[in-house]
Amino acid sequence: MSGVKKGIILAGGAGNRLYPLTLVASKQLQPVYDKPMIYYPLSTVMRAGVQDILIISTPLDVPRFQELLGDGSRFGIRLSYKVQEEPKGIAQAFLIASDFIGNDNVCLILGDNIFYGKMGLTQIFSGFNGGAKIFGYPVNDPERYGVVEFDQTGRVIGIEEKPKKPKSRFAVPGLYLYDGHVVDIARKMKPSSRGELEITDVNLEYLKRQMLRVEKLERGIAWLDTGTHMSLLEASHFIGTLEARQGVKIACLEEVAYRKGYIDKKQMKAIVSVTPDSSYNDYLRKILNDGVCCEGC
Ligand code: DAU
Repeated sequence: MSGVKKGIILAGGAGNRLYPLTLVASKQLQPVYDKPMIYYPLSTVMRAGVQDILIISTPLDVPRFQELLGDGSRFGIRLSYKVQEEPKGIAQAFLIASDFIGNDNVCLILGDNIFYGKMGLTQIFSGFNGGAKIFGYPVNDPERYGVVEFDQTGRVIGIEEKPKKPKSRFAVPGLYLYDGHVVDIARKMKPSSRGELEITDVNLEYLKRQMLRVEKLERGIAWLDTGTHMSLLEASHFIGTLEARQGVKIACLEEVAYRKGYIDKKQMKAIVSVTPDSSYNDYLRKILNDGVCCEGC
């Protein structure tokens, strides 16, 4: 089957680096400027055409995400939830999600990854026809991420997780597309020295099978980190600056749903009528009445 119609958002983990913020709410529930962090990756997959989405989080946080987002019907999507008992690695998501995935293609996005700009995801998702696709994004500090190694012709020849001596500046962002074989691959994997099922090992397996494609992301696309207090603040500044300057909202889920046709005008009106008086609702009303243009929908 071609195309990616299912998505997983992994939104668990210990969140230790953001302590004490994460004492009572997980990292992905923290505000990034004017919205909870998970709105951003959720809007990314919605904009890519995915309407069937599984959110995986900790036993404590799954109920909080359910409270925040419900079953997704108000955004014209289907949201389901699963618990990850302990943070045993990003690739464990495929084991937890095995029933959800079945044999279908699926995307995985990390709940703390924020993307901004025209990435052509709708085409990339609809044109996906097997194997794995990941992205490469040039950064100044590749040693903090999975890093892609290219040969002289630009062919991918390796990926290393947090290498001390990175072989390129291309980090792998937390957005991955896989075919249904990913579940079997994850089942056969062994935990790394840090006791986790590593996403990089999944990608290496696809590379070994010659079924891994890496799409380099161009200048003009932002991939933001929210791993530290400072990067969280910087992400808020980035979003706040763009929103204030352009008068648009980034990752407004109701807007994305409306523009993608997941909800119609009547549903949008109903949302506006029950949303508390706020700048957020003023914005929704503006979308309804004058159709303000949003970022790349
Ligand atoms: O952000 C992209 C990077 O994400 C990639 O370049 C790396 O290859 C990949 O390993 C990952 O690196 P991180 O060090 O950022 O992973 P971290 O352990 O911080 O987990 C990323 C998110 O996934 C975080 O929000 C918590 C969540 N998570 C993580 C693990 C290990 C879970 O929900 N469950 C888990 O078991």
